[in-house]
Amino acid sequence: MAPPIVPPRPQPPTPRVVKTRQPFSLCRCIAISLLTLLIIVGIVVLIIWLVLKPHKMVYSIENSSIHDYNLTNNNHLNANFNFTLRAYNPNKRISIYYDNIEVKLFFNSQPISLNNIVEPFYQPRRNVTHLNVSLPTNDVPLYGDIARDFKTQRSGGDVEVEVKIRAKIRFKVGAWKSNHRKLKILCTPRVNFSNSRKNLKSFPCDVDV
Ligand SMILES: *[C@@H]1O[C@H](CO)[C@@H](O)[C@H](O)[C@H]1NC(C)=O
Ligand SMILES: *[C@@H]1O[C@H](CO)[C@@H](O)[C@H](O)[C@H]1NC(C)=O
Ligand SMILES: *[C@@H]1O[C@H](CO)[C@@H](O)[C@H](O)[C@H]1NC(C)=O
Ligand SMILES: *[C@@H]1O[C@H](CO)[C@@H](O)[C@H](O)[C@H]1NC(C)=O
Ligand SMILES: *[C@@H]1O[C@H](CO)[C@@H](O)[C@H](O)[C@H]1NC(C)=O
Ligand SMILES: *[C@@H]1O[C@H](CO)[C@@H](O)[C@H](O)[C@H]1NC(C)=O
Repeated sequence: MAPPIVPPRPQPPTPRVVKTRQPFSLCRCIAISLLTLLIIVGIVVLIIWLVLKPHKMVYSIENSSIHDYNLTNNNHLNANFNFTLRAYNPNKRISIYYDNIEVKLFFNSQPISLNNIVEPFYQPRRNVTHLNVSLPTNDVPLYGDIARDFKTQRSGGDVEVEVKIRAKIRFKVGAWKSNHRKLKILCTPRVNFSNSRKNLKSFPCDVDV
């Protein structure tokens, strides 16, 4: 009974080993190719990153002033706010197109001046550009707590406002230009009411690209 069982056993293992090895090595081949491709792509991205060394742009409000201020008895605000926005592009190889710039002014989150359109501009590499922004407030009603808060701050000599900037920008590297990206800038300068001395303090802004 024992001898007939022994001979067929060694025969089937040999074809089985060949069959199982083929799909296994094919899988391994694909896996190795994909991994190699992934590593190459990673290295290329790393090289591009190291060559470009992208840095975030830096913004601040340098001169802020308020003119023709008047708050009527029923709390309607009239004023002209002037700001200088300092825009710094620290990048050595990336220049920026500012295609569309919108500036809004808020006091305690209440919009008081809207849709002032600043001229589009191109910012070269390693460049500082100053933009003069004028925001008129015409007969804007301030309600309840907001009016009270404005008066309190005004009697203290200055008011803190929020300047929100939305821009559509494109990056340029050599001859290549990126698609449009949204740029959000938030600045909270204190505006001095004293006309004799302009507020020369610089207020840094938050940036979100
Ligand atoms: C800010 O105001 C001061 C004083 O008026 C002026 O000398 C300076 O040039 C202004 N800066 C900018 C960037 O406009
Ligand atoms: C503010 O405006 C009100 C209403 O227009 C006016 O009566 C008042 O004289 C103005 N005050 C100042 C300081 O301009
Ligand atoms: C920044 O770029 C503007 C526009 O090209 C140019 O007029 C200005 O002189 C540049 N400023 C500096 C500091 O390079
Ligand atoms: C911005 O305003 C200041 C004075 O307020 C002036 O010296 C400067 O030339 C203006 N800059 C631009 C770009 O208009
Ligand atoms: C405020 O800005 C506007 C527009 O740039 C300008 O006409 C006006 O002279 C500025 N006011 C002052 C006091 O700088
Ligand atoms: C506003 O200006 C006055 C003098 O004109 C100064 O005493 C005060 O400190 C200034 N306030 C701010 C916040 O710069």
